[in-house]
Amino acid sequence: MASFLQLLKLAVRQSIGPQRAPRVPEPSAAMEQQQQVRDYDRAGESKLALSYQAVLWFLSRLPADWHNGRALDVCCGPGHFTCALAKHFPMREVVGMDLSAPMLQAAERRVCTEGLNDRVHLIRANALEIDRLFRPHSFRLITSNNALHHFENLRQIRALLCAFEQLVQPGGWIVLSDLVRLRTPELNDRYVDVLAGDYPQQGLGQLMADFRASMHAAWLPEELAETLPAGGSHRWEIIVPRFLPTIQLIVARPLATQTGSGQAVTPPDLGASGLEWHLLKLSLLTARRLGPLG
Ligand SMILES: C[S@@+](CC[C@H](N)C(=O)[O-])C[C@H]1O[C@@H](n2cnc3c(N)ncnc32)[C@H](O)[C@@H]1O
Repeated sequence: MASFLQLLKLAVRQSIGPQRAPRVPEPSAAMEQQQQVRDYDRAGESKLALSYQAVLWFLSRLPADWHNGRALDVCCGPGHFTCALAKHFPMREVVGMDLSAPMLQAAERRVCTEGLNDRVHLIRANALEIDRLFRPHSFRLITSNNALHHFENLRQIRALLCAFEQLVQPGGWIVLSDLVRLRTPELNDRYVDVLAGDYPQQGLGQLMADFRASMHAAWLPEELAETLPAGGSHRWEIIVPRFLPTIQLIVARPLATQTGSGQAVTPPDLGASGLEWHLLKLSLLTARRLGPLG
């Protein structure tokens, strides 16, 4: 487990000086290699569970009226979050979508094992063509985790977010999460070593390599802020933890229903306890927020 001192050192180094790390794009969009899929299928046992827990926790704090309809989980991978969504919230249906056939096979197995076949459905499709797949206003909730860094450029992401806004109902929510590229290439590597240094002993060496590639490919909140739609049915913002900004939530909140932040349901516990989760939760509570640019 990462120690507080290690994380504090990273936070201090992150806060000093300008952004220098160039973005290094992922080698491919869809994740199809056997070992990648095998390791990612075990992501629930790894620190990745922190990102699922953060989004579920955020969702649990929203007013309750979002979870009585259909949800769409875009780039669902092996379905950890897709299944958690169906398990912890009373969504009528959760649709998981991914471009990778082997990822979807893993997701299918998870759906069966968890007995969620009646409410979770999976489809193979390219997120970039999503506007052709569903009718406008089909979903009460749209999610996507750890995937925006797989897209080649900000133009694609802007198109994706606009399509999401078309597909979500006027009173529905869009809640996305992804990693944040740190200030220097060394800091990105150090963060991966601190958080995932024990992955190889757990047989998750490929997941560690993928995590490293993802940190280098991740978008800065300031870059993603350029892609946020403005003037539509939703108010978009990016929520970035202050302590160590390694995750960002990209949220579109409905203008139609004025929202408080009542406790909707008990926050699900995915077992991501420990120091990292407590720090992340604390720094999400005091996060900085970025709106659309320009
Ligand atoms: C890092 S994984 C994240 C999986 C899952 N959301 C999670 O957090 O566990 C990224 C996923 O995005 C998928 N992906 C990448 N580009 C895609 C695209 N254009 N359309 C659909 N899926 C895509 C990959 O196949 C992969 O399963």
